[in-house]
Amino acid sequence: MTAMELRPQRAARPRHYLMCRPTHFEVTYSINPWMDPAKPVDTELAVTQWEQLLALHRRLGHHVELIDPLPGHPDMVYAANGATVVDGRVLGARFRDTERAAEGPAYLEWFRDRGYRVHDPVHVNEGEGDFLLAGDRLLAGTGFRSTPESHAEAQEFLGRPVAGLELVDPRFYHLDTALTVLDEDEIMYFPGAFAPHSLAVLRRLYPDAILVDEADAEHFGLNAVSDGRHVILPESAAGVARRLRERGFEPVGLDLSELLKGGGSVKCCTLEIRDRPALG
Ligand code: ARG
Repeated sequence: MTAMELRPQRAARPRHYLMCRPTHFEVTYSINPWMDPAKPVDTELAVTQWEQLLALHRRLGHHVELIDPLPGHPDMVYAANGATVVDGRVLGARFRDTERAAEGPAYLEWFRDRGYRVHDPVHVNEGEGDFLLAGDRLLAGTGFRSTPESHAEAQEFLGRPVAGLELVDPRFYHLDTALTVLDEDEIMYFPGAFAPHSLAVLRRLYPDAILVDEADAEHFGLNAVSDGRHVILPESAAGVARRLRERGFEPVGLDLSELLKGGGSVKCCTLEIRDRPALG
């Protein structure tokens, strides 16, 4: 029997997600290095690719809800930026750029209408673009979008200790483009995206993390969504898929090339709603 066969199978936990159809997706402005308004975008193809992600989440047994896209807000498809939800508490997003400003209140209203406890943020934070929950710890990116002040605000409202991480490479402007949470205390990341002092923190907290190389990070291989067993990621990030298989995960590749033109992929399109645990 090989070591592979001895390993117990990883368990998937059903999740609750929020997504936004890219009905109005286009690239008309540029707020990250991937966005080039001169490059044509095929909105219909973006919708088709996005629908494949939606269908896959549902096939894997996850509960996906949809928020209505706002006309004139092409980036609203990147639902991960809309909020951060822990124990049914919703920290709203406050965007750095005016082009996306209206998205924050739109997402907050969606949650408020459904009875969630919401907090209207004071400081700039771009939701799960920069806040990733790993077990009981909130990994929090800064450097380009979310501010260090927002980290303190998140810790206070969500009640989880925050580990702040500084991003230094403009191509990886949100934490979820540079780091993936695979399970409670397992992550993968691209070391080149982090400031040396943040890298030291990551090494200390996660000595066994999968280190991803620049080529795979450039394919948005870290913009992935894990349910503890299946890891959905861009199919072009072949090296990441191999590494995941070695660790006993089941990588599932998808083509989201149109959405990459806005600087996002699988994770950007998927906001996780962590509901309040049911009382026992
Ligand atoms: N065009 C969007 C922006 O620059 C892309 C956001 C991607 N979302 C993410 N969670 N990284 O804001």
